[in-house]
Amino acid sequence: MTSTIQKPRILVTRAIFPQVIERLAAHFEVEANPADDLWDRAELLRRLQGKVGVFTTGVERIDAALLSQCPDLKICANMTVGYNNFDLQAMTAAGVLGTNAPDVLTETTADFGFALLMATARRVTESEHFLRAGQWTRWSYDMFSGAEVHGSTLGILGMGRIGQAIARRGALGFGMQVIYHNRSPLSATLEQECKARYVSKEDLLKSADHLVLVVPYSAASHHSIGAAELGLMKPTATLINIARGGIVDDAALAKALKSRVIAAAGLDVFEGEPSVHPELLQVPNVVLTPHIASATEGTRRAMADLAVNNLVGYLVQGWAVTPLNPEVNAAA
Ligand code: DGY
Repeated sequence: MTSTIQKPRILVTRAIFPQVIERLAAHFEVEANPADDLWDRAELLRRLQGKVGVFTTGVERIDAALLSQCPDLKICANMTVGYNNFDLQAMTAAGVLGTNAPDVLTETTADFGFALLMATARRVTESEHFLRAGQWTRWSYDMFSGAEVHGSTLGILGMGRIGQAIARRGALGFGMQVIYHNRSPLSATLEQECKARYVSKEDLLKSADHLVLVVPYSAASHHSIGAAELGLMKPTATLINIARGGIVDDAALAKALKSRVIAAAGLDVFEGEPSVHPELLQVPNVVLTPHIASATEGTRRAMADLAVNNLVGYLVQGWAVTPLNPEVNAAA
């Protein structure tokens, strides 16, 4: 009589590179979602039954209510650096490890932050729409004149790895004066390397010609840019959000753009995405992209690979590469 040893079961919530599924299948019985169906919470809960691990994409809410009904679950591995979908306290209490995917997307995301800044300041999409609509009939001296980028003041809110990578691009590539605000200042060495100067949030808002948001989303950062903060910015300033929806009050921003409280905005993330505040869709002085800052093939593969490394590392070898609640990792 032959006995088959059951592999541990894991869930992959969304369609992903086939190689990811192959790597996981070497160790686990994998329930994947090749059709990329969007599961609601009840469906996610149903599919999590009997699973010890789940490959998540940064949007699946993992909280106490869900965990109380998933007694077998040991690890949730986000393929994103952001992890505001995890209630880490509840996960730690339930002995469930959370992991994310830092570092591998830093430079790609910073590239995109800069692309969005350039497109916004120099009115790239607005002028392209004008051209495509057949409205370009003659040259004029002030047509789509935008904001200067080189030599201007770059403000960065949130000076983690991505913020620092944006600072280096601004200072070294574009001769910008870089100022930043963060929970705590960087070390003198890092400040020197990024050529960045720490200022208060108020000074940041008042002084930046281009303000890039790279702060993680949490209850504390919810609507940290609203009407009052926008009111402190220069009327010529641009605002770039590549962090998370909800950090900016999108309704207040749409109003501020409409009444030219600030000149323009570039947004890759939105409150309640993929829905976008209808008034943002109406104003011309905003560049809108569908949460693609880390979207190059190489980077998305690296992000997914890191999530796989975390699942295999933790469930097979007993340690994860990038644990968010390492106290659970240590107890394994
Ligand atoms: C992340 O990794 O958090 C990015 O926003 C991509 O989703």
